[in-house]
Amino acid sequence: MTAYAHDQVTVSSRGRGGPEKGLLRFLTCGSVDDGKSTLIGRLLYDTKLILEDQLVALKRDSRKHGTNGDDLDFALLVDGLEAEREQGITIDVAYRFFSTPRRAFIVADTPGHEQYTRNMATGASNSQAAVILIDARKGVLTQTRRHSYICSLLGIRHVVLAVNKIDLVDFSGERFHHIVGDYLGFAQALAFSSITPIPVSARHGDNITRRSQRMCWYDGPTLLEHLEGLDASEGLEAKPFRFPVQWVNRPNQDFRGFSGTVASGLVRAGDRVVVAASGKETKVGRIVTADGDLPEARAGDAVTITLADEVDVARGDMLSEPQARPEVVDLFAAQVLWMIEEPMLPGRSYLMRIGTRYVPARVTSLKHKTDVNTLEHIAAKTLALNEIGLCNISTATPVAFDPYAENRATGAFVLIDRFTNATAGAGMVSFGLRRATNIHRQALLVDKAARVRLNGHRPAILWFTGFSGSGKSTIANIVERELHARGAHTYMLDGDNVRHGLNRDLGFTDVDRVENIRRVGEVARLFVDAGAIVLCSFISPFRAERRMVRELVGDGEFVEIHVDTPLEICRQRDPKGLYARALEGKIKNFTGIDSPYEAPENAEIVVDTSEGSAEEAAARIVAALREKQVIS
Ligand code: ADX
Repeated sequence: MTAYAHDQVTVSSRGRGGPEKGLLRFLTCGSVDDGKSTLIGRLLYDTKLILEDQLVALKRDSRKHGTNGDDLDFALLVDGLEAEREQGITIDVAYRFFSTPRRAFIVADTPGHEQYTRNMATGASNSQAAVILIDARKGVLTQTRRHSYICSLLGIRHVVLAVNKIDLVDFSGERFHHIVGDYLGFAQALAFSSITPIPVSARHGDNITRRSQRMCWYDGPTLLEHLEGLDASEGLEAKPFRFPVQWVNRPNQDFRGFSGTVASGLVRAGDRVVVAASGKETKVGRIVTADGDLPEARAGDAVTITLADEVDVARGDMLSEPQARPEVVDLFAAQVLWMIEEPMLPGRSYLMRIGTRYVPARVTSLKHKTDVNTLEHIAAKTLALNEIGLCNISTATPVAFDPYAENRATGAFVLIDRFTNATAGAGMVSFGLRRATNIHRQALLVDKAARVRLNGHRPAILWFTGFSGSGKSTIANIVERELHARGAHTYMLDGDNVRHGLNRDLGFTDVDRVENIRRVGEVARLFVDAGAIVLCSFISPFRAERRMVRELVGDGEFVEIHVDTPLEICRQRDPKGLYARALEGKIKNFTGIDSPYEAPENAEIVVDTSEGSAEEAAARIVAALREKQVIS
């Protein structure tokens, strides 16, 4: 990534000792056609921060690639990536630094096309302001609306509407005011606290850093003046104290401190604080840093806090102020932007990172997705790459947070794919939801242990997975017969059967298969609690859901049996004629034909029925269960 870093810029959230107003992080939105790169190049050039040798290279490149004849092509200053030059688009987020005597700036330059929505969101998430470019000839476009919506969603409150190429509409004030009127009408719904329209010509430098002599009708600030003066502090220091604990620092018996970065607010030694999850209150002892103790710590400070009492605090907990506590719930509504190719599937377990906390989470329902171009709400079952939707999310244990609109530091989270560790989604909490508070767990007199004693064998889930026609049900049937003959309490859950009752409402889309296995998993868990051996025979094509069921029960209680009959053989057998119909296109989403199967990597037992009879496979499984002491 090419970044034009010049004089050392002190990056400090408070701007202590830095330029008067502190650092401003802003985002530019628009496309190459709008003149975005030219605008950034112009800013860098005019602020005289382009190093001499870069200027030489620029002159050379302008002659080679430029579109401006012998004039400098400012876009070439920032379109540093070869690929960008070749394709004429900007493909990533580039951060650039520049400063004036009044202020230091970091510009996040993100691509404008819809397929780069996630890149734009990444740039927006740590920006305080956005410069939204409009081509004066074209006015407010679909993409202008999309960019504005994403900025608003990601918490940007200050917008500069740079109406560019004003020279190409003869510096027309009328045109400018028309565009501004259009934009304000639309942006009303977006909760920006300031919108500053400025007519500019990036190419010729009008109203970028120098006031244009060609628009006497405009008496507002230049772009640079405005950015220099913009008060865009998020006021994190003025918000309630929040301290997500990064780690428990316990070098010896005499010291126990909690290390992390103050997310918002301010804390002093002696202040009362509360552990958000448990509600336990205590006082701050010391505020320790590598350079000695501090009397107080504020948003952005990395410190170690000791507490007056021995209260339970673990990594991922949050210390906060007792009079203004965060919400602590295990169910909330959030906007989620999807960032990977594989779609978001409600019901699937992802890992949520919120603050310093990692917790398993699932989307329980997708309320709607939002068309980023029209802001329309659309009913949907999944979110694809770059799509945004309002979701209800449930976490395995309660988490502490503030709504994102109130606190960007404690209301943001990411969802992580549990297999690839990729950031799958970025989320912004809208509000907490309470589960029905009139439902409590009933204490039971007879428990699992008692049932297991009576049964005389351990409970287990025997999970048969494999292609349709692989022999899962046939083998599971024989295994059940054998276990039953040995006096074991068993039950069989079979895909085809369950789909006639409990899961009658489900089909074979990815979303429905996830829900199919989630329900079956919950039922199987009840059977384990009843002390039984439950045999489950489902294609269960996704690793994530098989793992989810595994995690529902205790160690050793989930036995994954991969009926690893090659697809070719299943197709030849085709006991129900389904493969033939799927190949003719008469059945959609058929596993192995037009729907994927993710084979287990570490199944406890693997059998392949192409090599022997179902009876032999069952006998091997029974032997393996004896070895694992599931049965004696
Ligand atoms: S799973 O993928 O959700 O685990 P499940 O095991 O419940 O599937 O159901 C699979 C059975 O449904 C197959 O054995 C087959 O008889 C039938 N079936 C009907 N349509 C399909 C399809 N599109 N894909 C797979 N199986 C199908």
